[in-house]
Amino acid sequence: MSQDMEYVDLVRTDLEGYAPASNLAFNERIRNLIEQGGNVYHFAFGQSPFPVIQIATEALRENAHQNAYLPVAGLHELRHGISKFHAKYDNIEVDPSDIIVGPGSKELIFLLLQIFNGDVIVISPSWTTYKPQTKLSCHKAYVIETSIENDWKITPGLVQQLMKCNSLKKNRLLILNNPDNPTGTSYSQTELKALSDVFREHNILVLSDEIYGRLHYNQSHVSMAKVYPEGTILCTGLSKWASAGGWRIGYHIYPPQLSPLKKAVQSAASHTYSCAPAPMQYAVSKMFKDLDGCDEYMKHCSRIMGMVGMYCHRELTSVGVNVVKPTAGYYIFPDFGVVKNKLRQRGIETCQQMCDAIFAETSVALMAGGPAFLRPIEELTTRLCYVPFDGKPALVASQAIGLDVGLPENFVKEYCTPVYDGIQVLKQWVTKQLES
Ligand SMILES: Cc1ncc(COP(=O)(O)O)c(C=O)c1O
Repeated sequence: MSQDMEYVDLVRTDLEGYAPASNLAFNERIRNLIEQGGNVYHFAFGQSPFPVIQIATEALRENAHQNAYLPVAGLHELRHGISKFHAKYDNIEVDPSDIIVGPGSKELIFLLLQIFNGDVIVISPSWTTYKPQTKLSCHKAYVIETSIENDWKITPGLVQQLMKCNSLKKNRLLILNNPDNPTGTSYSQTELKALSDVFREHNILVLSDEIYGRLHYNQSHVSMAKVYPEGTILCTGLSKWASAGGWRIGYHIYPPQLSPLKKAVQSAASHTYSCAPAPMQYAVSKMFKDLDGCDEYMKHCSRIMGMVGMYCHRELTSVGVNVVKPTAGYYIFPDFGVVKNKLRQRGIETCQQMCDAIFAETSVALMAGGPAFLRPIEELTTRLCYVPFDGKPALVASQAIGLDVGLPENFVKEYCTPVYDGIQVLKQWVTKQLES
């Protein structure tokens, strides 16, 4: 082959302009800036601020030598631990053989989408990965729009409306993120039940991404698998509540009725990643044996995140920014419509332009809403991840206070200072626009 050979059309034409995960790309840019000494309030990337739960790190050290390939679906003892965990928290019975463990729940979503035969339904606003994965898997994505007035949640009526669409295939897979990234909202048992009636009526399977379930601020997460067991694939993992995103351990739980899907995903796993990392699987198996330790850890982490979330919500709403009060996880999805007219006078029309201006003028980094979250570009929504603080001292302080006593008023200011300061800076920016 000649050295001058020009390669053309190497990428599938439908993937032209296919962008990297926008959150990861933006995070890299900001991290470079921080490494060069820049002072950035980095609200643009959502990962746990806390150290990995100690029992798991100790177990990882003990298991660093584990170098054998493991069963494709995951270590049996790990799947057994997962089953007990969900019996405790979600009150569901799970046969370990219905579980598949993978290198992150994201990879398992991807494999499921690869093999699923039907249409995919996603919800707007959406986590930034569902639609790109749907596209990569050559599915058409149908989108259900939600509104801030309804706390960014789907309703039976919205699902019924979509079902009127004649082009929908017989098999439908709806991806529900509960609790939700980017909006921080979650669904009650009553809401899930009402949705499950419509899902049953229209043969809709649900991929229920509950990765933030254990970070519910009042520990009241309800799993879709409890309400709609026969049609729910439960997707979760250790990345959020156990603060182990980089360990790459996630898993899916299939109902027995969907075992053909599970088997096909398992085959696809065997042909792609073979097994999730062995030392991590052993470490996490050990962690699941100490459910009391896990429970205490997650209660501390979620109450800290809850307090930070309430602070962000309170401060931003006090200057007219429209924000739904978060119930779980790390995120809010504020709408800066209150400054829309003022920004227009400055020639700023889109959420990306607004985030660029905020960053340039305040060093507050936010991820713009817009297409990445399946929102219109002119809607001034942004995703704000309230995690840029050192979770280690915050966790130690919360543990010292104990769970029987509430956290003191000044906790956010004292232990989550970059978030405290960054929100004040953002608030001042909004006030300045309003007064201009
Ligand atoms: C909603 C949601 N689902 C899944 C994931 C990915 O999780 P994992 O680390 O298990 O791949 C994330 C991570 O950001 C997420 O926000």
